[in-house]
Parts: sequence; C-alpha cells; structure tokens
Amino acid sequence: MGKNPDIDEAYAMTSPDEVKALYRTWSHSYDVGFGEGQGYQLPREVATAFIGAGGQGPVLDVGAGTGLVGTFLHRMKATPIDGIDLSEEMLELARLKGDYRGLSACDVTQPLTGLDGPYQGVVSAGTFTLGHVGPDALGHLLKVAATGALFVISVNAAHYASAGFEAAFAELGDRITDRCTRDVRIYDDRADDAHSDDMARLVIFRKA
Ligand SMILES: C[S@@+](CC[C@H](N)C(=O)[O-])C[C@H]1O[C@@H](n2cnc3c(N)ncnc32)[C@H](O)[C@@H]1O
Repeated sequence: MGKNPDIDEAYAMTSPDEVKALYRTWSHSYDVGFGEGQGYQLPREVATAFIGAGGQGPVLDVGAGTGLVGTFLHRMKATPIDGIDLSEEMLELARLKGDYRGLSACDVTQPLTGLDGPYQGVVSAGTFTLGHVGPDALGHLLKVAATGALFVISVNAAHYASAGFEAAFAELGDRITDRCTRDVRIYDDRADDAHSDDMARLVIFRKA
C-alpha cells in the first residue's frame, strides 16, 4: 500500500487557516475513507481509557472533529458531552450524530470562553499532534475543568518530547495529580504501511 496523503498533509500544517482548509476538504470522507479505511482506533482508545479511569460527565472533547470520541463516550454513558473544534465543517458532521450537548467552533490555542463548564472530564484524540495543537493549550483546558477533573489527552508519541509535551507536563507541577501515560496504536492493521505502527501516548491525569 502507498502512503496516505491525508495523514501526511495533516502533519505538515503550519497555521490554523491551513488546518481549517484541510478539514473543510477532508470532512466528507473522514469517517469512512480515513476512520474505517485506515482502521483509526484512537477515539475508542481514548474513550475506553477515560471510562476505565473512572471518568464521568460533563466532558469536554477537544478537537472533536466529526464526533468519533463522542460516539463512544455516549455509548458508555459519560454524558453530557460538549465538543470544540477549529473546523465548522467537521463539527457539522458531529452535530448530525446527536451524541453531543453542545458543539462550538473555536481555537483551543486561545483562551476558551462561552463553554458550559466546569467539566469533570476532558478528552482529546488526534488533536495534540504534529501540525495541529502543541502543549501551550493545556493551560486553557485546565481553566475550564473542575478540581479533580479527569483528563485523557492523546499526544503523537514520536513527537512527545521534541514538541515540548514532556517538559510542559513536568512544568504543570502540582497543578495536576496522578499523571500516568500509556502508549497505544493509532491505527489497526488496515492502515497504510507508512503509518500502521504510529503510536499515541495517552496522558492521563487529574486537575489538582
Ligand atoms: C485528526 S482530527 C481528530 C478528530 C477527532 N478527535 C477524531 O479523533 O476523529 C484533528 C482535529 O483537530 C482539530 N484542530 C486542529 N487544530 C485545532 C485548534 N487549534 N483548535 C481546535 N481544534 C483544532 C481539527 O479541526 C480536527 O478536527
């Protein structure tokens, strides 16, 4: 199998406008062409880790996209779920699934306003990665979370240290507790050869 241009293109983004343009085009084929075609299993891994660690609603799904994480959380009764994403086109598809209480278009690298928090849970799949969101957004998320809120954030494992996540989590110090990590495969065996071994690091912690 050849390389998947969508995944590589996504990793190469350098600005929010580029990200918006990419997902405007990608949204319609995302669930079937990418999600099913590449065996994209990270949303299920994030939702399962959240429930396994005792997570409950209200939950904020960061970079909710077409709502793949919300589908699993809703099925596992972790509700209500709100979602935020840069791409209105991705959110429109999530809206159609009916798993979310609220979905709003915003940039998580900027201060978050107008959300229905504080949240007991914050989850994210596939958004803290190359060309997308870096560790600076973590501070904004802590502000909308309740004390004791459970976070399950996936970070592209290959870039965890080089993109500054290792240092950023260490710098959060006593603002977070119970931090642990678990590496999971992003895709199953349906993925293109170039990405079938890609790993995400799930960072699981609570707001102190
Ligand atoms: C690979 S998709 C993951 C979507 C969904 N979580 C999933 O697992 O299917 C990454 C998502 O992050 C969103 N995103 C990228 N940068 C963002 C930002 N700065 N603020 C909010 N969302 C962002 C994109 O619009 C896209 O929907």
